[in-house]
Amino acid sequence: MAHAIEVEDLIFSFPDGTLALDGVSFSVQEGECLGLIGSNGAGKTTLLLHLNGILRGRGIVRILGEEVTDKNLAQIRKAVGLVFQDPDAQLFMPSVFDDVAFGPLHMDLRKEEIEKRVDKALLSVDMQAAAEKISHHLSFGEKKRVSIATVLSMDPKILVLDEPTSNLDPRHRTQLIEILKSVRVTKIIASHDLDMIARLTDRLLFLQDGKIVENGPTREILSNSRLLKELGFYPILP
Ligand SMILES: Nc1ncnc2c1ncn2[C@@H]1O[C@H](COP(=O)(O)OP(=O)(O)OP(=O)(O)O)[C@@H](O)[C@H]1O
Ligand SMILES: [Mg+2]
Repeated sequence: MAHAIEVEDLIFSFPDGTLALDGVSFSVQEGECLGLIGSNGAGKTTLLLHLNGILRGRGIVRILGEEVTDKNLAQIRKAVGLVFQDPDAQLFMPSVFDDVAFGPLHMDLRKEEIEKRVDKALLSVDMQAAAEKISHHLSFGEKKRVSIATVLSMDPKILVLDEPTSNLDPRHRTQLIEILKSVRVTKIIASHDLDMIARLTDRLLFLQDGKIVENGPTREILSNSRLLKELGFYPILP
């Protein structure tokens, strides 16, 4: 099967000298759902920001067979829908509707198609009633749900989600897990929510100090008590 994402020996330091990715290599098959776990500061967000070229390190990132370069960023960003860890980084338009319409507006779609996509995306995160609200007036969890809608409305081939369940109440968290299950595209999800990770992902990368220290089937990794102890968890799968 074809690879949706291929990363080869990715190295990235922030301008202050922090080495955040230290030789990361992995690939994700088309249709696979990959989890990304590791402590605060392990490099998860930094890695995800490389998948649509927001950050550019040394090494190779290939999306659907195409290497990410300065020239194809627009095309890469159509293929990769990225939900930021911080929803304030995602929402910048005057209204919720405009934020969710922003992606489709840049895809040469007809007005009716754009409206249909926005309605569907807002409905799927239960935010349709807030379409005319000002995004930055929403609660944090509501912003997170709208952020997810901004990406669902683009119908991307690859969904990259940074802590999608953070700040969601239990009902909306469960609803999101069901939505993500039903969206049958390639997904990569970084999270500390191991229960969600166990429900959604096929395979896990465990990142530590900018390096992948484990890469294997989710069930195997989540039943590895030594590893979970390192994360500060008790085993959650029998
Ligand atoms: N703009 C920046 N400038 C300097 N260092 C940074 C910057 N952003 C992140 N870092 C550092 O890079 C490392 C990786 O951070 P990153 O945000 O990728 O971690 P993370 O695994 O996503 O953590 P969390 O679980 O808290 O979201 C950390 O040591 C962090 O302090
Ligand atoms: Mg992070």
